[in-house]
Amino acid sequence: MAVAGRAGRTPLIAGNWKLNLDHLQAIAFVQKLAWSLKDARHDFDTVEVAVFPPFTDLRSVQTLVSADKLPIKYGAQDVSEHESGAYTGEVSAQFLAALNCSYVIIGHSERRALHGETDELIARKAKAAIKAGLVPVICVGETAEDLEQHGPSAIPVAQLGTIAEALKAGDDIVVAYEPVWAIGSGQAATAEQAQTVAAQLRTVLEEKLDADTAAATRILYGGSVKAANIAGFMRQKDIDGALVGGASLDVAEFSSIAQFPKHVGV
Ligand code: PGA
Repeated sequence: MAVAGRAGRTPLIAGNWKLNLDHLQAIAFVQKLAWSLKDARHDFDTVEVAVFPPFTDLRSVQTLVSADKLPIKYGAQDVSEHESGAYTGEVSAQFLAALNCSYVIIGHSERRALHGETDELIARKAKAAIKAGLVPVICVGETAEDLEQHGPSAIPVAQLGTIAEALKAGDDIVVAYEPVWAIGSGQAATAEQAQTVAAQLRTVLEEKLDADTAAATRILYGGSVKAANIAGFMRQKDIDGALVGGASLDVAEFSSIAQFPKHVGV
């Protein structure tokens, strides 16, 4: 079923596992997810599905996906800005590419808040990812305090503006708008608010990169997405998918989110 109003952008449903599921649990989970989507006759060309496990799971996920030819994509939750060298604890984009990762999440609000990541660092990480052939999923979003002081758009627009300065037209990126107050809170943004911010983020891409790049870039919404609220987001013309945290750890729930065309009525 065609998903209307997205100018050819293939929706992406992305599961951010955070610090959950070890490599054995990851194998079982991805197997079950693949079965569930196959049973539901999920069309992966219409809606892409990706999981973002911890680093230590990636090799196992790669082996499973490749052996069973699963149409599920995967990526890491972070990456180093460096290619190699004396950077204890870091993982390079080249190493992720060698594991056939398609994507990498960059600048998640938990990395910003707990690891002091700045827009400048996030921009360098995005460039490192692109150089290695990965698609960075660049996260932006306002805190509750930002929302109160500046409204929903100002902070994510400023964040993406700084990051996009370092990118160039034609770069293959995904942007995730994740209001920090909506993450893990059970309190999602309204679809209308998410659409307003997504439209402004697309304008930032148009101004900093170009119109074609802005039109081609997928903008996801993230923050308390569930099967029960995905439809509202996917009806918005500038929202091209979701970055799902908590609900991505439940096979049935995540599978149902990925099958949004069945309940979105588009
Ligand atoms: P949540 O997390 O779906 O649990 O709110 C989203 C995220 O942090 O990416």
